[in-house]
Amino acid sequence: MIERLVDPTVPEEEIEAGEERVFENLRPRSFAAYIGQTALKDNLAMAIQAAQGRDEPIDHVLLYGPPGLGKTTMAGVIAAELGTGFKVTSGPAIERAGDLASLLTNLAEGDVLFIDEIHRLPRTVEEVLYPAMEDFGLDLMLGKGPAAKSIRLDLPRFTIIGATTRAGALSAPLRDRFGHVHRLEFYEPAEMREILKRSAGILGMHLDDAAADEIASRSRLTPRIANRLLKRVRDYAAVKGDGVVTLKLARRALDLLEIDPLGLDASDRRLLSAIIEHYQGGPVGVETLAAICAEERTTIEDVYEPYLMQIGMLERTTRGRKATPKAYLHLGVEPPASN
Ligand SMILES: Nc1ncnc2c1ncn2[C@@H]1O[C@H](COP(=O)(O)OP(=O)(O)O)[C@@H](O)[C@H]1O
Ligand SMILES: [Mg+2]
Repeated sequence: MIERLVDPTVPEEEIEAGEERVFENLRPRSFAAYIGQTALKDNLAMAIQAAQGRDEPIDHVLLYGPPGLGKTTMAGVIAAELGTGFKVTSGPAIERAGDLASLLTNLAEGDVLFIDEIHRLPRTVEEVLYPAMEDFGLDLMLGKGPAAKSIRLDLPRFTIIGATTRAGALSAPLRDRFGHVHRLEFYEPAEMREILKRSAGILGMHLDDAAADEIASRSRLTPRIANRLLKRVRDYAAVKGDGVVTLKLARRALDLLEIDPLGLDASDRRLLSAIIEHYQGGPVGVETLAAICAEERTTIEDVYEPYLMQIGMLERTTRGRKATPKAYLHLGVEPPASN
C-alpha cells in the first residue's frame, strides 16, 4: 500500500494522529459554512423547508462522488439543519440483518442515519432496508422452518443518508428508494481558495490570497487534500518562516512535498508516463494500470481517474484509458502528431 499525501480517501485522523480535533473543527456544521456545491445546498434547503412545513422527515438522500469532497460533512450539516439526531454507520459495519434491526429500532423520530460506503451493504441487509425505507417497517422472522412466521415492527420515521464513491455499484432497487440523489462535484478554484481561507482562520494562520491560491491549485479541487496541505504548510512556516504564509513560502513548502503545480504526485505521474511510454498513449486496460501502480482496480477508478479526467489529462474510452495531449505536455513529452 503506497502512502500518498494527496490520497483523498485517507481520513484526517489517520494521517494526523492525535490532531483529530483540529480537523473536526474544520468541518462545516451549517449550509452557511459549507462552501460551494450550490445546487446541492439549494435543493436540500428546499427539501428541508418543505418537510418541516409538513412536519415530516425529509426523503432519503444519496450522496455520491469522489472521496474528500464533503459527503460525510454534508450529511452532518443536513442533520444539524434539521435539528435532529445523527447516527453514523457504514455498509461494511452492518454485517447481518440483525445489526441493521438494532440500529433502526434505536432511532428516535426524525433522526438521520448516515450509512457511509453504502454500496458495501450485504445483500441480505439490503433486503431488510427496503421496507424500512419505504414504509418505516421492519419485517422480523420468528422461529425457523415451517413454523416460522414473520411479524412487522413499526419504526419511527427517519431519514437515511447514504454516501458512496461508486454509485454504479449500488443495486437498482436500493438506488430507487432514495428521493434525493446528488453527485458532489469537484470544487471551483475560487471555492477552494475560500475553503482554505476559512480553514486558515480557524487554525489561526495568516495566509495571503496568493498563497491560498497556490495551495488551492495543488489540492486536486478537493477540500480534504486542501486542509491536509494547509497543515503541512503551517508546519513549514512555523519552522522556516515568521508565521505569515506568503506565496513564496507556500511554494517552497509544497515543492518539498513533491506535489506539482497541478496537484499531481509521483504516483499520478507514473500512471500517465506508463501509458505514454509503454502503450503509446493508450488505450490501456484499467487492470493493466492497476498492476503498474500496484493499486487495486477500484483505487484507480475511484481515486486516480476522477481528478485526472477532471483536469483533462486522461480519457476513458470503451477500449481503455488514454493519455491526452495535455498529459504529454505536462510530463514534458512531445505529443504524437495524430493525437
Ligand atoms: N464544502 C466544504 N466547505 C468547507 N470544507 C469542506 C467542505 N467539504 C468538505 N470539507 C472539508 O473536507 C474534509 C473532508 O470532507 P468529507 O465530508 O469527510 O468528505 P467525503 O465524505 O466526501 O470523503 C472535511 O473534514 C471538511 O473539513
Ligand atoms: Mg466520508
